Amino acid sequence: MVSRFTTFYRHIVEEERKYPEATGQLSDLLADIALACKVISLEVNRAGLIDILGFTGEENIQGEQVKKLDVYANDVLTNVMKQGGHICAVCSEEEENFIPIDDKFTENKYVTNKYICHFDPLDGSSNIEVNVSIGTIFSVYKRVTSSGPGALEDCLQKGIHQVAAGYVIYGSSTVLVYTTGKGVHVFTLDPSVGEFLLSNENVTIPKKAKTFSVNEGNFCKWSGGMKKYVSYLKEIDSETSRPYSSRYIGSLVADFHRNLLYGGIFMYPADNKNINGKLRLMYEANPLSFIVEQAGGKSSDGNKRILDIEPKSLHQRTPLFIGSSDEVTLIEKYLSEDL
Ligand code: AHG
Ligand code: MN
Ligand code: MN
Repeated sequence: MVSRFTTFYRHIVEEERKYPEATGQLSDLLADIALACKVISLEVNRAGLIDILGFTGEENIQGEQVKKLDVYANDVLTNVMKQGGHICAVCSEEEENFIPIDDKFTENKYVTNKYICHFDPLDGSSNIEVNVSIGTIFSVYKRVTSSGPGALEDCLQKGIHQVAAGYVIYGSSTVLVYTTGKGVHVFTLDPSVGEFLLSNENVTIPKKAKTFSVNEGNFCKWSGGMKKYVSYLKEIDSETSRPYSSRYIGSLVADFHRNLLYGGIFMYPADNKNINGKLRLMYEANPLSFIVEQAGGKSSDGNKRILDIEPKSLHQRTPLFIGSSDEVTLIEKYLSEDL
């Protein structure tokens, strides 16, 4: 039975206390992220009321048009991170380069900031104006350099080196999901007290899927294996409960969250126009892959484990197949037979 009053901060502090060598920096850092997301949540909820919707006219590093809420979410997260004093660099989908942060000077000495954070400040931003769920995705690594402002090698680590990852969905309620490598835990924001309260501990994803999430509008651009797999999902077969239901929101966090709770597979494959798919390894694929594995699921680029990919650049894209383990294994088989 989950206690009604386990706050996010209490949960992470209790987790960290199990490790005597822990300094508390990670708990404080995660609390800072939660604070930033509460501020973003407020603004997302007010977005229809104030003149914040619409384009700023600028383009982000991905060559997409930036909307005001993306800019706002990015500013909140980067500012909170700079002030918090636990990270030596922040990397964001909305920033071309990482932002290095120097060690903090307190009590007459420099204290080394141990961590790096990666953010997709606002995921699903094409849905902002139509009241569909959007979210923030975050990921934390330990620095590999020893001190001072972070360097590119701190920022470009394989996903297996994440020490924490999570996301916040701004939906019918605001929900925070996180892992520090010891299970996946879900919190719901109680707006009356302004706290994320524990709603589900040690979530596991069903092994088999009942739904699939993919932008089927791209069907004609897919490989033969991908086409065959999606056609297979739509065939009638009572033994394997096919056809599966199709559910695609177009906000990765929201599609992922539904599949995490009910079982399902999310796919954003490579196609003949985008040979590396659309989604970003560091900001989207790695954090969700860490979470899905912690929940007993699986994540792949169609050929290998996402968390084992050696990143070459901050904004690198990757095909993504993520969710119930049986389904991810099956799509890998379909794709390999296509070769
Ligand atoms: P972002 O808003 O951070 O750029 O991410 C958008 C992503 C993701 O949330 C979603 O799954 C995908 O784009 C949808 O892409 P399509 O519109 O091509 O289906
Ligand atoms: Mn995104
Ligand atoms: Mn985004």
